[in-house]
Amino acid sequence: MAIVINEKQNIFTLQTQSSTYQMEVDSKGVLLHTYYGKHVHPESLAHLIYQSDVGFSGNPPEANGDRSYSLDCLPQEIPSSGVGDYREDMVRLTHADGSTAADFRFVSYEILNHACPLPGMPAVYATKEEPGETLIVTMRETASQVMVKLIYGVFEKQNVITRSVRIENHGKTPVVLEKALSCSLDFQFGKYDMIYFAGRHAMERTMERTPVGRAKLSIGSLRGTSSHQYNPAVVLCRPETTEESGDCYGMCLVYSGNFEMSAQKDQRGQTRAVMGIHPDWFRFTLEPGDTFDTPQVILSFSPNGLSQLSHQYHDIIREHICRGKYQHTPRPVLINNWEATYFDFNKEKILHIAQQAAQLGIEMLVLDDGWFGKRDDDNSGLGDWFVNEAKMGGSLRQLGEELHQLGMKFGLWFEPEMISEDSDLYRAHPDWAIQIPGREPTRARNQLVLDMSRKEIREYLLERLTDILSHAPIDYVKWDMNRSICDIYSHSLPTERNGELYHRYVLGVYELQENLLARFPNLLLEGCSGGGGRFDAGMLYYSPQIWCSDNTDAINRLSIQYGTSFFYPISAVGAHVSAVPNHQTGRSVPFSTRGHVAMSGSFGYELDLNKVSEEEKEMVKEQVSTFKKFYGLTHEGDYYRLTCPGEEEYMAWEFVSKDRSHAMMTLVKTDGQGNSLPVHVPVRGLDDTRKYRCSYNGLVCFGDVWNNGGLTLKTIPGEYASLIVEWVEEG
Ligand code: DGJ
Repeated sequence: MAIVINEKQNIFTLQTQSSTYQMEVDSKGVLLHTYYGKHVHPESLAHLIYQSDVGFSGNPPEANGDRSYSLDCLPQEIPSSGVGDYREDMVRLTHADGSTAADFRFVSYEILNHACPLPGMPAVYATKEEPGETLIVTMRETASQVMVKLIYGVFEKQNVITRSVRIENHGKTPVVLEKALSCSLDFQFGKYDMIYFAGRHAMERTMERTPVGRAKLSIGSLRGTSSHQYNPAVVLCRPETTEESGDCYGMCLVYSGNFEMSAQKDQRGQTRAVMGIHPDWFRFTLEPGDTFDTPQVILSFSPNGLSQLSHQYHDIIREHICRGKYQHTPRPVLINNWEATYFDFNKEKILHIAQQAAQLGIEMLVLDDGWFGKRDDDNSGLGDWFVNEAKMGGSLRQLGEELHQLGMKFGLWFEPEMISEDSDLYRAHPDWAIQIPGREPTRARNQLVLDMSRKEIREYLLERLTDILSHAPIDYVKWDMNRSICDIYSHSLPTERNGELYHRYVLGVYELQENLLARFPNLLLEGCSGGGGRFDAGMLYYSPQIWCSDNTDAINRLSIQYGTSFFYPISAVGAHVSAVPNHQTGRSVPFSTRGHVAMSGSFGYELDLNKVSEEEKEMVKEQVSTFKKFYGLTHEGDYYRLTCPGEEEYMAWEFVSKDRSHAMMTLVKTDGQGNSLPVHVPVRGLDDTRKYRCSYNGLVCFGDVWNNGGLTLKTIPGEYASLIVEWVEEG
């Protein structure tokens, strides 16, 4: 059993293979958080809690005058709100009398021998091999009829604990949820760094590491999507933690909308970290009998540094978040016409690109933006999901059949959540766009956003998508979303409920994607939001790969893909070889390096291969077969970051197969110096006791020799040159 209960003392211990998470109900009914860390015996750790009289920290009624008992200082699973804990709260309620307070006491618990799905939201799911277990702890709000269920999933083998919260109004009057986070983690002792991933469009997920102190460290998004600017996945680790050693904790939100994550030390130096839906612009009314479910947070702990933490997240996301045919089926190598043509294409051009690509071994053509409605630039047409047969020289069925004759699959771009004012859809339904009556809307990319909280809009979109997908042989859909959301107002919600729109929008997107996949279960969905604007575990539940960034420059991609790799499996990372000079940076990187970088992802091309040299065409053939050769490693193996951006004159990373028989390292030179020194690269993850032959120097050595000695390379000549080194077990 992964959940160990001590009935007498009300201690709940959640055991995974290498971690222990513990909570205990104290004599006042408060659910204390007693431990999260390396695996230990399930004995009470409540003795670690040190109580003392702290001035200006009040005492709850049950303390009966004991001034050392204060909610302001105790580590708790669900902190109280407005009644004397001045740190971050998790659930904030406004009651019918206008008071804003919430205080929770233990009622009961329940154990389920499987993981629990979340209604209408993505969540870590059970499999036959790992069904998971669930602990549900019910807490009562002391002065109202609100009940809160703290839901803990335990995935023993993956070293994962999930957390979410269900809030139920059992009273006779409405209650307003002002804040409903998914998780709060209290650390009584120790210093922590927060590692987070920040950026901007076309430069996403740059890793930053900052010590947590008394000033609140907070990241989040109020853009309606998880955003390019901050990713909803964060590590808390000891200052000394490295890739290979030290304690680290991950918090990864399975959600694609507004979020906040913050960490802060309190007056006694204790750290509290919280995560969930951003409380700003959130206000949700619970009528009597209503419930609200928060999204799920995936927690994981590694006592052995960041690489192991990443392996745990890659495994749980690959095996228990991603679904469908393409969860493990090799993804087709694709060619996308966007950077080759932008909007300037017709059927002939597309087929010309496809014919050349097919000859070089590429397996799917993705027709990007511009095939529908009136859409020759990005100022019109969104919402009119009808094929522009004049531009396409016929139907999509004809195009799809011709592609299939070339031996290629057919992929199609959509941006279902958007509407152009210059569209038939907008002319018919101006109120379908999110905008505030009487206020000129804020446009971004000259487009507005459809109100995805509305059923009739989702039905229209499902009907349109179904019509297109069932009249043409389409194997793949790229689901784009190209702006942030603002001007929050819904024509279908009562005025006082507009604070629900951001969340209802996300639920609407989830429902539409779920319904689409139910109708087309073999469809490969690739998520996209101007590249990586919605790269999160929520989206990966529907689309096992996401276009990682609109930046296809192989050198910029090194840091983008590096940051992405902390939580998300490499199979999730859409990565393409594009033309040089690169359209985003103007940089020219060798064709082989562009291939090596894109192969560390779900691989494809985004250029007109008719325009490259014969030598480069040969390279495409080689790259496709190299990608396939290493597919098992890149898409199913363990990933090791060997360098940090900017620290060396090169970036290197490695994949090791789960059975440890095969490894592959990629190295890209990022800088060069005169009188250059040899390059020494660490090697990780080989089995110490088995022998491996290295493709670089032909030497056969035990794994411990490679793991501890590393590999010395001669100087690598050429700007932005790259190489792949392979280790194969010798029988
Ligand atoms: C943004 C995407 O990230 C690009 O790849 C491309 O699909 C464009 N949108 C099309 O408008």
